[in-house]
Amino acid sequence: MAAAAVAVLAAVLLLARGGSAAAAANEFVLAGFARDNVTASGVAAVASSGLLRLTNETNEVLGHAFYPEPLRFKDASTGAPLSFSTTFVAAIVPRYPDAHGHGIAFALAPSPTVPGAVAGKYLGLFNTSDSAGQGRSGVVAVELDTAKDEEFKDINDNHVGIDVHSLWSVNSTAAGYTDAGTGKFAGVSLVSGDSLQVWIEYDGANMRMEVTVVSPAGKPRPAVPLVSYTVNISSAVADDTYVGFSAANGAASSSHYVLGWSFRLGGGRAPDLDLSKLPSLPSSRSKKTMPQLLVVTLLLVVVLVLLLLSAAAAALVIRRRRFAEEEEDWETEYGPHRISYRDLYAATKGFRDVIGKGGFGCVYHGVLRRRGAEVAVKKVSHDSRQGLREFVSEIASMSRLRHRNLVQLLGYCRRRGELILVYDYMANGSLDKHLFDADSDNKTTALSWEQRGKIVRDVAAGLLYLHEGWEQVVVHRDIKAANVLLDADMNAKLSDFGLARLYDHGSNPQTTHVIGTIGYLAPEMSKTGKATTSTDVFAFGAFLLEVACGRRPMERDGSLDSPGLADLVLECWKAGRIKDARDPKIGKCDEADLELVLKLGLLCSHPDPRCRPSMRQVVQILEGAAAVPETPPKDLGNNNGLFYGYSESFDEFPTMFPATSEATTVTMTQPSSSHSTGGQQQHDHRLSSDAFSPHQITEA
Ligand SMILES: *[C@@H]1O[C@H](CO)[C@@H](O)[C@H](O)[C@H]1NC(C)=O
Ligand SMILES: *[C@@H]1O[C@H](CO)[C@@H](O)[C@H](O)[C@H]1NC(C)=O
Ligand SMILES: *[C@@H]1O[C@H](CO)[C@@H](O)[C@H](O)[C@H]1NC(C)=O
Repeated sequence: MAAAAVAVLAAVLLLARGGSAAAAANEFVLAGFARDNVTASGVAAVASSGLLRLTNETNEVLGHAFYPEPLRFKDASTGAPLSFSTTFVAAIVPRYPDAHGHGIAFALAPSPTVPGAVAGKYLGLFNTSDSAGQGRSGVVAVELDTAKDEEFKDINDNHVGIDVHSLWSVNSTAAGYTDAGTGKFAGVSLVSGDSLQVWIEYDGANMRMEVTVVSPAGKPRPAVPLVSYTVNISSAVADDTYVGFSAANGAASSSHYVLGWSFRLGGGRAPDLDLSKLPSLPSSRSKKTMPQLLVVTLLLVVVLVLLLLSAAAAALVIRRRRFAEEEEDWETEYGPHRISYRDLYAATKGFRDVIGKGGFGCVYHGVLRRRGAEVAVKKVSHDSRQGLREFVSEIASMSRLRHRNLVQLLGYCRRRGELILVYDYMANGSLDKHLFDADSDNKTTALSWEQRGKIVRDVAAGLLYLHEGWEQVVVHRDIKAANVLLDADMNAKLSDFGLARLYDHGSNPQTTHVIGTIGYLAPEMSKTGKATTSTDVFAFGAFLLEVACGRRPMERDGSLDSPGLADLVLECWKAGRIKDARDPKIGKCDEADLELVLKLGLLCSHPDPRCRPSMRQVVQILEGAAAVPETPPKDLGNNNGLFYGYSESFDEFPTMFPATSEATTVTMTQPSSSHSTGGQQQHDHRLSSDAFSPHQITEA
């Protein structure tokens, strides 16, 4: 009795010295710790906040914190076990959610340093020799074990067990509690980082130890204990037993904390802990903010990645749209003639180098990378889907047309509302520049007759090929100086054959349009609206006169009444001095040849298509294999005094002859349908004369 009294007195003295609450002689309440409240060993330490940290985030460490004075759990006289009651709030904060240290234990031990005990699965209370032999006498513990050790027959890695002399728990249960309100069992995660409140009641009368756990702390105390075991504590522990806590880390680590502790020995319950007075878990806060920071960072990264991805996707879509083409099934057979828009875009450096501008769009210079060839790329806007198919088939077949006097069509590309044609590049541009601009710009010198003679023969050869040299007759429809291009060696090539058909096909069937250029249109065109080889010959005649005379078939400033070029040449012929009609810029020359070309030009321009020579005859005449008549045929130009009879045929369309009519390609309605369309014949400004001349070089 005296010994017990001394022990209790010692406890009272100690508690009074520590300044902590001590309501009765055999109890203490530690709402937070002071440095001399406990004897710490290992890495255990008391923080200034009052938080007892048994371990920190270090592997393979242990920490002990025991009440400094030994207590006696045995009735001094009878040796019967004394009851005790305790409750504490602890927390296990793992360094990583999926890798954590071992558990924490409430322990009764013969020494506050537990000599020889090791960390890891031994929880700082035992060592290997203990587990191999009879165990360590004097040690009784309640473990909150967070690791499953097969050696100790642990049931899982989250259990509460009662250990008597060994880690081989005498009884254990998965952590949890029976909810006081609902009566249902709720699991508790020991390593959640949340606070845990544990109650341990030992009744000395029936030697029953009962353990109860809830989490987080503050929940009502469950009525049903989680684990219990009957043990004679007075024989199980030493006479001088230290009470406290032990925790350990192994290959992974947690921080083990005790926030508050209340203990009573000798009957009756330990005082409740006022949870509001307990120190908070600084590390738990940082544990929570760390992941939060991580989550925020991760979110930011994810958002950034998503943004980048969507930007990349958008760029891809834009790129795809930029290079989008239209292609339909029927085009596959023309596959070889298709050139991808991407290639054209690259070839023209993004369609920058404009070398010509027409009513339909621009012509660009480019270099096809694959072939290394210089090309002229013509963009033709075309909204109508109708007729396009035929046109593309025509293009495809035309790219099979090969003649040294035809500008080679290399391929095409089709996009929405846009047709892109790719031709050989002609370094010297269009002929009309050389014919008419030789004065105005100093760079171009007037063409000699030798050059002109060669040019007309080149063009004649090209046109003959179109008319007769191929499996089907191809009508050019728009022969004129502007559509004759000159390569680097001044070889003449016909360009844009058949292109006018595109606008034929696409037109409203009620208004059949005639495409061509005023001054080159055969008179019967205004009646039939049909282009034939004969209308091509007529235009070729006008072209011959144009080349020989250096004048356009209809002068720009000429009024309707003024005679056309053909009339002037015819006058000269009738007067027997046809050579006077020639271009004064031609100096000395082969006059016989000049005369031949002028006469042939007039013959080709015969108002009656039946009287015009064929292109084969034209070529024969130019080669000297056939002769031209000495005097003009009687009916030539014998039409109202005017050569073409324009005034008659075109009287209905005076508006179609503006001052610049020569340079205008017209779209007009057939006279037969002109009434139904109420004179809506349009002077289509889009169709300017150079609309089809891609290869003109802007000589800047
Ligand atoms: C843990 O505590 C020990 C001893 O107090 C110390 O040396 C070590 O740096 C601490 N580790 C961490 C991660 O705080
Ligand atoms: C275990 O602890 C005891 C002291 O209680 C000591 O004598 C023994 O050497 C220790 N065994 C090991 C393997 O550390
Ligand atoms: C408990 O152990 C003590 C000491 O060994 C003994 O005196 C006492 O009789 C035991 N009590 C019971 C009920 O076995």
